[in-house]
Parts: sequence; structure tokens; C-alpha cells
Amino acid sequence: MAGSEKKLTAKLVLPDSKEVQLPVTVGTEDEHAIDIRSLRQETGYITLDTGYMNTGSTTSAITYLDGEQGILRYRGYPIEELAEKSNFVETAYLLINGQLPTVAEREVFGRMLTRHSLIHEDMHQFFAGYPPTSHPMAVLSAMVTSLSAYYPDSLDRNSSMDLHITRLLSKVRTIAAFAYKKSIGQPLIYPKNSLNYCGNFLHMMFAVPSEDYEISPILEKAVNQLLILHADHEQNCSTSTVRMVGSSGANLYASIAAGILALWGPLHGGANQAVIEMLEEIKSSGTDYKKFLDDVKNKRDNRRLMGFGHRVYKNFDPRAKILKKMCDEVLNHLGVKDPLLDIAKSMEEVALKDDYFVSKKLYPNVDFYSGIIYRALGIPTNMFTVMFALGRLPGWIAHWKEMVDDKDTKIGRPRQIYTGERVRKYVPIDQR
Ligand code: CMC
Repeated sequence: MAGSEKKLTAKLVLPDSKEVQLPVTVGTEDEHAIDIRSLRQETGYITLDTGYMNTGSTTSAITYLDGEQGILRYRGYPIEELAEKSNFVETAYLLINGQLPTVAEREVFGRMLTRHSLIHEDMHQFFAGYPPTSHPMAVLSAMVTSLSAYYPDSLDRNSSMDLHITRLLSKVRTIAAFAYKKSIGQPLIYPKNSLNYCGNFLHMMFAVPSEDYEISPILEKAVNQLLILHADHEQNCSTSTVRMVGSSGANLYASIAAGILALWGPLHGGANQAVIEMLEEIKSSGTDYKKFLDDVKNKRDNRRLMGFGHRVYKNFDPRAKILKKMCDEVLNHLGVKDPLLDIAKSMEEVALKDDYFVSKKLYPNVDFYSGIIYRALGIPTNMFTVMFALGRLPGWIAHWKEMVDDKDTKIGRPRQIYTGERVRKYVPIDQR
């Protein structure tokens, strides 16, 4: 690198010895990037980076993450502090608007979320149309796309985005709970304006018309913390999907629905469900977790230790640390004894000393313990990824908004290196 501190450049020497100077962009936490935006135009070369392991798709002021040090901050605030002192609504406001709200701002935001919690009555018919075996992520994504049909002004980016944002935050919670109620054949429970965001969610999930439902403050706190821990994670697969879809000019609801679908995969948000399925399989096979770990290490049937490893964290995921502690607290408080927790702890202990996992820097991630907490709270396994989506929603919205407001945004359109056939003549079918 050469140049003064303010104008760093990197020199690239091409195979024909041609040299190009590329500007270097430095972030507020001293992260460095070589800006290659002019590369193809100047040289004809592109960069190849499968899985975008080294590619910065944008600059962003939302979340700072240092995977080597195990640091995660939203808008500068450490995740540990937010999980302990904040609540989900305040954290959502912070992510979307850049600052913690004042008392008055929080009051207005909370009121908006309360007022927009109902979904159009006609949408109830959609729930009825799905088979009871439907995965709630399928229902959630379809319903979020459908919201754009009920709010057609969302197609116009000059309409009030703040209104769409609060609508979305409020209604996704209602849709998630309705999808669950539908899957177990219980009547849909309408939101109650006297309740706060997480309490209202628990009410819609667990109340039945025939009985009073009392919201446990422990459950409410746990849901708040779980949602905060999932609220953003910079340019992960689903957030990048939201940005990519949004970059085409697609509306907010469509972009978020795409993010929900990206999250569903077992290597991403679907991992929390996969962890529980893995632990259940081990339990039903006689708790032989060591054999399971051997299978993972030998890559038998491409097995992975679900809930371990991360593209960015090569050290403890700070969220997993908080969740492990929380898992013990919640289960103790509720008096729940879960054999899956014992298996998970034993596996973690063995894996953290095993050369396979140590050498590849594989540590527990956010999904390793979250499922056990969800189980203790009474949330069924196929709803775990929906919980992740509910938590990640403010992060997706914040990134969508940042992308829309950024004058440098261009439609996302990567290049490729073609490796197929060279030009050839069409052969008629009777000659093939
Ligand atoms: N169990 C066993 N081996 C693993 C695991 C695992 N969980 N994760 C990675 N490896 C191995 C992998 O086989 C590869 O080995 P080798 O070098 O011999 O080929 C090496 O580690 C590097 O793996 P990779 O797939 O190239 O790494 P990646 O950065 O592309 O993948 C990951 C990251 C999260 C997809 C991966 O660690 C994984 O599949 N973990 C299990 C699924 C999971 O828990 N996902 C949730 C992630 S946290 C929530 C979120 O933000 O999405």
C-alpha cells in the first residue's frame, strides 16, 4: 500500500505486467477494503470470490462485527449491553433509525406498533387455505409478500416508508402467531392493544378464547432477549438477499419476504430447528453423541455439527455465550429438565477440545442453544426459524432503508467467468 493515511491505494500487477492503482476504503473500526469498482473498466479483469468470502458488497453504518475477537455491536452498542438493558422495540428503533429513542420517540414508535397489529380480515382466508402440515416459514413468507397487495402504495418508494416499516414490524408478529395457531388447529387469537410487543406475541401464540392467559415476565424477558440477539448481523445471507432484491426497486414487503426465504435454509436460520432435530436423533439412538461426532469428523453422509461454525466468527459467537447462560437461567426458573440440554453441553465440551473442531475454529453459534430455550418456552420446533425471522426483521428493514437512501446504490448484478462450451452450430434433432 502507498500514499498518505487519507488516500491509501493498493497496487495490482496483472499477468501482462500492467499495473493498476486501486483506492483503499477504511472503515471507522479500521477495516480496510480495496475498492475495485473501476477494475473491469480499466483492465477487463473481474474478481472471483465464490460465496463472497472476501467481498464487501456495501459500506454500512448499522452493525460492527469482528469475528476474530468475537465482537458484535449494533450502531456502536455492544450486544451484551443491549441484551441486558434494552428491549426488542427499542433495539429495533435503534437499528432502523440509528439512535436510541428518547422517551417521546419510544412512546410514538410503540403506539404505532400497537395500532398496526391487525391484518386485513380477508387475509385470514389465506391461512385456511394451507394444509395443517405447512411449514410456518412457507406461510410467513407468502403472507409478507401478500401484504404488498393490501398496501399497494408500498410499490411507490415516495410513499411513507415509516408507515410501511411499522406495519411490517407489527404485522409479522401477528402473522407468525396466526401461522402457529393454524398449524395446531386452534382459533386465531387477535392482538391486544394493552400488551407490549413481546407480551402481545406470547398472548397470540398461547392464549385460547376459553381461558385467561397470564404472561410470565420471565418468558417475556427471554423473548425480548432472544429477539435482540437475532436483530442484526450485517451482510449475512438473508440480509444480502434483502439488499439484492431491494436493489432492483422491489418494494419493502417483497424484499423482506425474499430475506425470510433465504433465512429458512439449514445453513442459516434453519439451523436452530436442525440442532434440535440432531439432538433428538442422538437421544433416540441411545445418547451416543461421541459416535455422532465421529461421523461428523469423518464427513459421513456430509454430516455437520449443527449450531457450530460460522462464516465470520472464528472465535466464540458472543450471542452463543449469552444464550448458554440464559438457557441455564430460563430452564432453572421454569423448572424444566431437558435431556437435550445435557447432550448439547456434553457435545460442546468434547468438540471444544477436539482437534477437528479446534483446527477449523468451529465454535457454538447463536443456534446451538436458542432452540433449547424456545422448547422450554413452549415454542414448537418448526416455529424456531420464524422466531429468528421475527428477531432479524429490524435488521433487514434497517439495511433495506440504508440501501434505498444511499445514492451510490446500484442494482446488484455480479459477473461470472464462463466455463461452458464455445460457440457451436445447432444440430437438428434427426442428426443428434
Ligand atoms: N460441523 C462440521 N464441520 C464443519 C462445520 C460443522 N458445523 N462447519 C464447518 N465445517 C467444516 C467444513 O466441513 C469444512 O471442512 P474442510 O475444510 O475439511 O472442507 C470447514 O469446516 C470450513 O467449512 P465451510 O463450509 O467452508 O465454512 P463456511 O464459512 O462456508 O460455513 C457455516 C459456515 C455456518 C455454513 C458452517 O459452519 C455450517 O454449516 N455450520 C452448521 C450450520 C449452522 O449452524 N448454521 C448457523 C450459522 S449461525 C446463524 C446464522 O447467522 O446464519
